[in-house]
Amino acid sequence: SILIVDFGSQVTQLIARRVREAGVYSEIAPFSLAEEAFHRMKPKGIILSGSPASVPDEGSPRAPQILFDSGLPILGICYGQQVMSQQLGGEVRPGHETGDGGEFGRAFLTVTKNCALFDGLWAEGERHQVWMSHGDKVTQFAPGFEIVATSDGAPFAVIADEKRRYYGTQFHPEVVHTPDGGKLLANFVHKVCGLAGDWTMAAYRDTKIAEIREQVGDGRVICGLSGGVDSSVAAILIHEAIGDQLTCVFVDHGLLRLNEREQVESLFRDHYNIPLVVVDAEERFMAGLDGVSDPEKKRKFIGGEFIAVFEEEANKLGGADFLAQGTLYPDVIESVSFTGGPSVTIKSHHNVGGLPERMNMKLVEPLRELFKDEVRVLGRELGLDEQFVGRHPFPGPGLAIRIPGEVTKERCDILRKADAIYLEEIRNAGLYDAIWQAFAVLLPVKTVGVMGDHRTYDSVCGLRAVTSTDGMTADVYPFDAGFLTGCATRIVNEVQGINRVVYDYTSKPPGTIEWE
Ligand code: XMP
Repeated sequence: SILIVDFGSQVTQLIARRVREAGVYSEIAPFSLAEEAFHRMKPKGIILSGSPASVPDEGSPRAPQILFDSGLPILGICYGQQVMSQQLGGEVRPGHETGDGGEFGRAFLTVTKNCALFDGLWAEGERHQVWMSHGDKVTQFAPGFEIVATSDGAPFAVIADEKRRYYGTQFHPEVVHTPDGGKLLANFVHKVCGLAGDWTMAAYRDTKIAEIREQVGDGRVICGLSGGVDSSVAAILIHEAIGDQLTCVFVDHGLLRLNEREQVESLFRDHYNIPLVVVDAEERFMAGLDGVSDPEKKRKFIGGEFIAVFEEEANKLGGADFLAQGTLYPDVIESVSFTGGPSVTIKSHHNVGGLPERMNMKLVEPLRELFKDEVRVLGRELGLDEQFVGRHPFPGPGLAIRIPGEVTKERCDILRKADAIYLEEIRNAGLYDAIWQAFAVLLPVKTVGVMGDHRTYDSVCGLRAVTSTDGMTADVYPFDAGFLTGCATRIVNEVQGINRVVYDYTSKPPGTIEWE
């Protein structure tokens, strides 16, 4: 395995992800716990992450000395390179002293010498694109090191001590903007550390099942199911680990898609035999949404009410020791501000935050290290039906944030029909899996139309479809015009209350994926 020492970079999890992609198991340990993790894991190699800290600053984090004494291969990335250089006798100077402001973004380096890290990938004299993000830099490397690649802003773009198998990159190989980064990391774990690359998601599943058993003991776990892929995979995994110590609660807030509740019931209750409580809470949600049209007010009400319903059900079950959630890594980074300072709230995300403290429950979050596509692989590993595994994300506040303005049951019913037609067309055209998320919205605007000899005066339906890798940025899906015309015709003909259809051509940013 590989031990990744985390100095607080926002992209440390991406290092773990690339290592997983190379078929090698890794664990991330914060620098303060790295020594303990080192003894426990007995890794075959070490990666030191980047950091928002500055090596020359007093009190900035250091790697435990034992890592350097261990004789294991080490790859230092950005801050990792700097801290390694400093600790092994080199020098790092802050950006303001070296007279430049550092490098941020795309850069090109030139390979000056072959080394094991570049093996079969980069050769001497070649230029390659990398992603830099640093203010400080190494100004004197440590004894034993030599330069193997250089760039204008970072003379020590890559340094190596091949004898000790130490490598340092000033750039970030873990991000996609370094096109060969994944392969460099694979070279490190395969060729430098000598690991086979035979680790799979099946092994991840076994590790997590053991961890869940250990964490939960004979405690009781309650899981809020949304029917989305994340909470479904979390629930199935936890059920495999602890069986009927798990109870799932599915809240039908009346803001679900067509037949969604039935699908969830049949999958979990009938197929997986997981204890499932379905709460019919449509009335109270509709009552609470009455007269509310501000997006944040809707989100806050739904989030709060959801917690209230959930808490009532948990109490009816006699309480629980743990709350299970399908939190993914992007949820973790989106909710933690990088600088520690206040970050701007674009949308109040819906989750059951606050509940664990109030009910004195601990969290079980077995997917916290994974990205969406990895969760899908894990879902397949758990035998989850392809229809669920490949499902588009659906927001917690449901249709309420796809009905700008006031939400009523009637409008939800109209939207459900339009949305189902749109998705059916997408599936029939074989496009569902090529799209990250596609849905209809119902606008609070009426326009005039003509059907037969009659004047109509009905609502406008918007269609949205985007591609994305993580929901943080998104591009519009380029349907051909004929496809959209077909959807528009069907929706206007088949859904009473809609007489016009428009397509949303906004990417994210500047738009968001959902309309509210
Ligand atoms: P936005 O609209 O912010 O959405 O571009 C990004 C992704 O997040 C989903 N989304 C939510 N998911 N609770 C969720 O569980 C929420 O409150 C929520 N709001 C947006 C959205 O569907 C998209 O996939």
